Amino acid sequence: MNSFELNKILGALLGCVLITLSLNIAAGALFAPEKPAKPGYAIAVKEGAAEKAGPAEPSQPIEVLLASASAEKGAAAAKQCAACHTFEKGGPNRVGPNLYDIVGHERGAGRGGFNFSAAMKAKGGTWSFDELNKFLKDPRGYIPGTNMTFAGLSRDSQRADVIEYLRQQADSPKEKPKVAEGGAKPAEAPKAAAPAPAAPKH
Ligand code: HEC
Repeated sequence: MNSFELNKILGALLGCVLITLSLNIAAGALFAPEKPAKPGYAIAVKEGAAEKAGPAEPSQPIEVLLASASAEKGAAAAKQCAACHTFEKGGPNRVGPNLYDIVGHERGAGRGGFNFSAAMKAKGGTWSFDELNKFLKDPRGYIPGTNMTFAGLSRDSQRADVIEYLRQQADSPKEKPKVAEGGAKPAEAPKAAAPAPAAPKH
């Protein structure tokens, strides 16, 4: 092999190296990787999205719910309570006390000597519409330690129907609470549904 041939071989090798180098540079320019400022994966999920999935129905004050409540529907829904409660005048106590004339009645008292829990007796006061609404939504949440082992009625309208039914199970049903002036009123709310204040306790 003479030096001329050797030059050719070296030249070819050098050419190869040059081409590879320039291809590499060109590719680097074309496909430059974008480095993120912070290492790691970007996950496109908004924080707090899961917590926002609350109940579908907005909670409205009981006076608004009662304005369109139905005692007939309430009577049907109250079948769930009938395993433990009677509703008629002079009805017997079962697992739970008879509930005749419960609206406005003293809490955890009377009821033919029903054996109420310490928690119920300690709560004291009387059963207002608002408190019945809270209690029936989540009995053990509202009165921790109550003996009423019932999950609660989660649907606003159904609770109002049951409370309307309870209201009517009385010699002289208590007036429905007034919807506050300027408050949220349902479109079909009758005007001045409850002109008189609640009847005195008896
Ligand atoms: C599994 C049985 C059970 C079911 C079902 C049940 N309750 Fe009760 N309820 C009780 C018991 C027991 C008490 C007494 C609680 C206490 O002393 O802590 C009670 C207490 C009450 C009281 C308070 C009574 C008072 O004199 O202070 C009301 C009001 C009431 N229940 C309404 C209802 C309604 C309305 C339903 C149906 C939506 C219902 N309950 C379903 C067992 C039940």
